[in-house]
Amino acid sequence: MSQFAPDSLRIRDMRLRILPDARAVSLAAAEIIEAAIREATAARGQAVLGLATGATPEGVYARLAERHAADELSFRHVTTYNLDEYYPISPVDPRSYRAYMHRHLFGRVDITPNRAHLLDGSVPESAVAEHCAAFEGWIESDGGLDLQLLGIGRNGHIGFNEPCGLSVDEARRLRTRLVELHPVTRADARREFGSAEAVIPTALTLGVATILAARSILILATGAHKAEAVAAALTGPVTAHLPASLLQSVSPRVTWIVDQAAASALPEALAAASPIG
Ligand code: PGA
Repeated sequence: MSQFAPDSLRIRDMRLRILPDARAVSLAAAEIIEAAIREATAARGQAVLGLATGATPEGVYARLAERHAADELSFRHVTTYNLDEYYPISPVDPRSYRAYMHRHLFGRVDITPNRAHLLDGSVPESAVAEHCAAFEGWIESDGGLDLQLLGIGRNGHIGFNEPCGLSVDEARRLRTRLVELHPVTRADARREFGSAEAVIPTALTLGVATILAARSILILATGAHKAEAVAAALTGPVTAHLPASLLQSVSPRVTWIVDQAAASALPEALAAASPIG
């Protein structure tokens, strides 16, 4: 992630790119991920990616799959860890994030099956804590995440780390665990489940601590419905009430790429931002 186009700004010491639309965001993100894969593979023999689901990264995965189909990009030396998964859910349920990842990426590239990891929505409840700890242990034994891809919820969540009343220090120490979904998250998951009431109310999520430990963090937002959360995360206080604001505490490792609609609540902040020359 060493090359940045001249449309990059620096805001609260994070990099911010504002691009015309969602397609431009997807292409720019895919380019950064591809560069991260090449750099890490050259340096350490493998690249370790933290991946996200939802509507936002679909275009990114489509582009990466396209690059693979054109013989320009291989996932043979890539290891992935996904951010979250509904719980409980069957791995073959089409609404599971495991199924999503297979549809959008894993089934379309040459990734080695036992290098593509998701939290398992089918472990017994008595084994959830152990499973979450093991998942973090696997990331560590792979040398940590080279790049964590993130979306942002309308309520400012990252992964399924939902808004909460913890102190910043407590929130930054949150580990991988079972959580309850916030009403806004459930409302936004209607797309997959048909109605907010039908959304599985609990999920497993990578903790804030593991996300913040990634060597680089790439967070994407598209659409006007994300504008308030984006503006608050970039320019508001660091608070567990808006988990994406916690990224400010590891600012030099963070890159935001947003489209103009998602940046539409930012004008004042932009006046204060400095271009990266
Ligand atoms: P979305 O979700 O990409 O479906 O908008 C983003 C998120 O909740 O992190």
